[in-house]
Amino acid sequence: MKAFVGSDHAGIDGRKTVAEVFRNRGWEVTEIGPSTTEEKADYPDIAHEVSVGVTTGLAEVGVLVCGTGQGMAMTANRYQGARAAVITDSFTAEMSRGHNNANIACFGERVIGTEKIKDLIAVFIDTPFEGGRHGTRVDKIDKIPS
Ligand code: RB5
Repeated sequence: MKAFVGSDHAGIDGRKTVAEVFRNRGWEVTEIGPSTTEEKADYPDIAHEVSVGVTTGLAEVGVLVCGTGQGMAMTANRYQGARAAVITDSFTAEMSRGHNNANIACFGERVIGTEKIKDLIAVFIDTPFEGGRHGTRVDKIDKIPS
C-alpha cells in the first residue's frame, strides 16, 4: 500500500509523524514538503502534488498537514476523484472514511497538534468504507446538477 504525505512549513512535525505511522505499518510513503520551518512552502503546491498522486492511483491514501488543514482540503477537493476531509476528532476520522470514503486526510497542526494527528491518522487508516447506501451517496458527489 502506498501513501503520499505532504505538508507546508506549518505541518512538518505532523507530516513526519504520519509518515512514520504508515511506515511502521509497512506502507510505502512518499513525503512532500519542506524539511525546516524556515523553508516556507505554499500549501497549494503541496496539495497539488498529493492530490495528483492519489487521483492518478499512485497512492491509495493522501495526507496533508498545514496550519489549519483548510487550505489543503480546499485545494485537494478541486481534483476529480479527490475526497479530502479536514479531521479534528476521532468521530470525524471514522465517519469521513466509513460514510464518505475519504481518500485524503487533512490536519491542522496549529489546531490539534502532532500527538492528536498521530492518534487520528490511525483511526482513519483502520476504518473501512461501509459502502451500500453510502456508496450511492458518494457517487453523487461528482454529479453536479445541470
Ligand atoms: C501558513 O501560515 C498557513 O496559512 C497554512 O499552513 C494553512 O493553515 C492554510 O490553510
